[in-house]
Amino acid sequence: MKKFFITTAIDYANGRPHIGHAYEKILADVIARNARLSGKDVYFMTGLDEHGQKVEQSAARRGIPPKVLCDEVADDFKTLCGTLGVSYDYYIRTTDEYHRSFVQKCLQKLFDSGEIYKAEYTGLYSLNAERFVQEKDKVNGAWPADYGQVTEITETNYFFRLKKHQRWLIDYIGAHPDFIYPKFRAKQVIEFLKEPINDLCISRPKERLSWGIELPFDKEYVTYVWFDALLNYISGVNFGDKKLADYWPADYHIIGKDILVPAHSVYWPIMLHVLDYELPRTFLTHGWWLSSGEKMSKSSGNVVNPLDYIEEFGPEPFRYYLMREMSVGQDCDFNHDRFVSRYVTDLGNDLGNLLSRVVNMLHRYCDGIIPSLDVTNPAILELRELWDGTGRSVLADYGDLAFNSALGRLFSFIAFINKFIEMNAPWRLAKSADSGARTQLEVVLAAASESIRLAALLLAPVMPVTASKILVALGADPEVSWSKLDFGPHLANKTAVENVILFPRKEANL
Ligand code: ME8
Ligand code: MG
Repeated sequence: MKKFFITTAIDYANGRPHIGHAYEKILADVIARNARLSGKDVYFMTGLDEHGQKVEQSAARRGIPPKVLCDEVADDFKTLCGTLGVSYDYYIRTTDEYHRSFVQKCLQKLFDSGEIYKAEYTGLYSLNAERFVQEKDKVNGAWPADYGQVTEITETNYFFRLKKHQRWLIDYIGAHPDFIYPKFRAKQVIEFLKEPINDLCISRPKERLSWGIELPFDKEYVTYVWFDALLNYISGVNFGDKKLADYWPADYHIIGKDILVPAHSVYWPIMLHVLDYELPRTFLTHGWWLSSGEKMSKSSGNVVNPLDYIEEFGPEPFRYYLMREMSVGQDCDFNHDRFVSRYVTDLGNDLGNLLSRVVNMLHRYCDGIIPSLDVTNPAILELRELWDGTGRSVLADYGDLAFNSALGRLFSFIAFINKFIEMNAPWRLAKSADSGARTQLEVVLAAASESIRLAALLLAPVMPVTASKILVALGADPEVSWSKLDFGPHLANKTAVENVILFPRKEANL
C-alpha cells in the first residue's frame, strides 16, 4: 500500500541551521506524528541541498573541499533534528550516488526527447540567486537585496522548455484546488503565470562552477542546483529496495513561502509532467519567522538566536511555542516575552503543576494508587462532556493543520481540569466526615488523572517526550497510542509516580 509520504525542503549546505529550518522540520514532524497516531503508514523525508555556487564559495573561503563542508553541515542538521525529536525516516543528500545517477537519467531523457536544447543567451545573472534574472524582477527600480551583484553575461547553455507547458500548468492548478495550501498562495502562482514565462537555464559552465552534477550529454557543464535539488523528492524513494509506487505522489511537500514561486510551483510540476510522473498532492507553504517584522535567517544577523531557546528551555517547550504561535501559512514574530509566558503559564503552571498536584494528592490520600472511575458520577459530567468536545475538535484541527487552534483548545481543557480540582477541593473532602466524602475524593482524583492522561495523548504530536513522561507519572504505558481516547477507567489501580517536574523554573538567561 502507498505510504503517506511527506517531505521538507532540503536545506542549503552553505549555512548553519536557523529557526526557519527548525520550524519546517517540527511542522513536518507534528504532521507525521499525527498521521502515525491516526493509523497511517508514514514516510517522512528531509535532507540537504549540497551543490551550487554558494556552497562552492563557502568551502573555498574555508580552504576545504565542498564535500567536507557538506558532511559537516549534514552532521549539524542531523544533530538539530535529533535534539528536536524530528522523527524523519530518511535523510537525503544530493551528493549521494543514487541521486546523481537519477538526475542524470532524467536529464538524458529530457535531452533525447527534445525538451532540453542548447542556445546562446545574453542576460542578467544574479550571483546570489544563482540564476538569470529579468528587469521585471526589479522592485521599485532596484534589484532585490538577496540578488546580490547582478551582471550581464553571454553564455552558451542548456535550456529546459518551460514555456510550452505554461497553459497546461495553469489548467492543472485550476482543476486541483488542494494543490497549493493555503489557497491565497495558489492565487499568487496564477498571478505569476499570467505573464509569459521563459525557458529555464538548467546548466552552468564548469569554468564558472564545478560543484554540481555533470550533464550526461556535455561534460563541460554541471546542472543548475534547483533542477538537481527538486529531483530529491523522487530520487530519495526510488533506489535500492525502494519502489517509487509505494511513496509517490508525495502527500505533502512542506516548503517556505520564498521557494513556492517559481521553483516548486512552476519548475517542479512541469519537470514531473514532462518526465511522466504524477504531481504531488499538496504544497504546504508556510510563512516566515520574523523578528520585529524582519525575516530571521542566517544573513540578517538578528540579535536573538531562537535556537538558543532550545538549550535554555528544552526542545519540547520550543516545539510547543512554534506550533502554538504560528498559524500555518502566515508569518509570525518570534517574541521573547511571549515565549517565556507560554513556558511559565501554559506549561509550568497549567500543565506541569497540575500533574504534580494530582500525583501528590494521589500519594497523600490514596497511597499512590489511582482509584477506579465510575464515569456515570454526576460530579464529572461537565468534565467528561468538555473532553468529548475537545477530543473531537483537537483531532479535527490537527487534520486541518490548525495546530495553534488545537493547542488552544487543549490548554483550555487543561485549564478546566485545574478549575475542576479547585471546585471539588479534594483536600477538604479528605478531611470531611460525611459519608460520601471518601467516594467523592476518589472520583475527583480518578477523573483528574484520566483527564490528564487524555490531554497527554493529544499533546503527543507536538510534545512526544512530555506526553510519555505524563503517562509514566500516571503509571501508564509510556508508549502513546490513540486507541483509548474515551473518558474511562483506564488508569484504575495504576501506581502514580511522585515528584515529576515537567518544566522546571528558569532563571532568565536570555
Ligand atoms: O531554500 N522562517 O534552502 P534553505 C521560516 N535548498 N522558514 C524559513 C525561514 C524563516 N525565517 N528562512 C528559511 C532552500 N526558511 C533550498 C530548498 S528544496 C528542493 C530546496 C525555510 O536552507 C525556507 O523557506 O534556504 C525553506 O523552505 C527552508 O527553510 C530551507 O531553506
Ligand atoms: Mg533560503
